Amino acid sequence: MYVCLCKGVTDHQIRDSVKAGARSWREVQSATGCGTQCGKCACAAKTITCDAVMTELKASAKGLAYAV
Ligand code: FES
Repeated sequence: MYVCLCKGVTDHQIRDSVKAGARSWREVQSATGCGTQCGKCACAAKTITCDAVMTELKASAKGLAYAV
């Protein structure tokens, strides 16, 4: 779904930028342009970014002996 109408950024693009290595809202903003115009999408985009980062971290920690 479209998250940022000004820049035409979807939730998939945000998740893809996290998969590509972005680990913060600023890095996602730089990679996608999301939230760089009117800023109305920032709250939803930050939530998606946080969820995507946590998913990536959990996936990368599966091989550890202890939970992260
Ligand atoms: Fe994202 Fe305007 S809706 S910057």
